[in-house]
Amino acid sequence: MTERNGSGEALRTEGLTKAFGGVVALDGASVAFRHGQVNALIGPNGSGKTTFFNCVTGMIRADGGRTTYRGRDITRSTPHAIAHAGVGRTFQLCRVFPRMSALDNVLAAVRPAGLLGQLRGAHGRAEVDRARSWLTRLGIEHLADVEARNMSWGQQKLLELAGVLMSDPETVLLDEPAGGVNPALLDRIGGLVRELNAEGRTFVIVEHNMDLVMSISDHIVVFDRGRPIAEGPPSVIRSDERVLGAYLGV
Ligand SMILES: Nc1ncnc2c1ncn2[C@@H]1O[C@H](COP(=O)(O)OP(=O)(O)OP(=O)(O)O)[C@@H](O)[C@H]1O
Ligand SMILES: [Mg+2]
Repeated sequence: MTERNGSGEALRTEGLTKAFGGVVALDGASVAFRHGQVNALIGPNGSGKTTFFNCVTGMIRADGGRTTYRGRDITRSTPHAIAHAGVGRTFQLCRVFPRMSALDNVLAAVRPAGLLGQLRGAHGRAEVDRARSWLTRLGIEHLADVEARNMSWGQQKLLELAGVLMSDPETVLLDEPAGGVNPALLDRIGGLVRELNAEGRTFVIVEHNMDLVMSISDHIVVFDRGRPIAEGPPSVIRSDERVLGAYLGV
């Protein structure tokens, strides 16, 4: 994956704001995530992390501020255009089709819905092979013909990620990949992120599991009340007083 701008910057926001009625979810958030890194975005419940993802992926429109990706303004771009620019994402409340098989779920991720029933027939051999190889890579190939609703929560999260990877995103935003996931799958998710990063993919990961965050991140941004209050490598963030205060109220 080649550098498209000299700064090596992936995602940047300047003064991003978003309010829901009287609730200020983003309060002038200016953040920069570098290309090629595993970045984490952490912060207490309600600090605006998911809203940040929703705004930068074009799923909701910010009230103010600006977003760039690889130096290009995407503030008003559609979710489709942002995905096309190379940004993929997963959701905090995992989005899969419960009554479709794992394989069909992965295939559906690269084709608009509406072809249900004959989905597999609508895909070329190469695409089906690629979908299977992502299932294999994520360790869930044995579930290819199992309906998503019969998979564990952690397996469904891996399935959603397989769908995102089908579009070959340069940058992947993960919203709580470890939430509700058992320890064995947690290790797999952590290992996968590092592997995929070594292959050139940039990550921004929203996560409450601090062991995971500290073990896989190159750079951590800490949100509190809709804006960053600290950032740095794990060694710095671990002992930052503002972080301890925001999280633990000390
Ligand atoms: N669609 C919405 N309508 C109204 N309020 C919202 C909406 N989305 C988010 N909020 C509010 O905005 C604030 C930020 O929410 P957000 O979901 O971004 O937080 P978060 O950091 O992702 O929290 P968590 O760690 O619990 O997932 C919260 O007060 C939340 O209740
Ligand atoms: Mg959230």
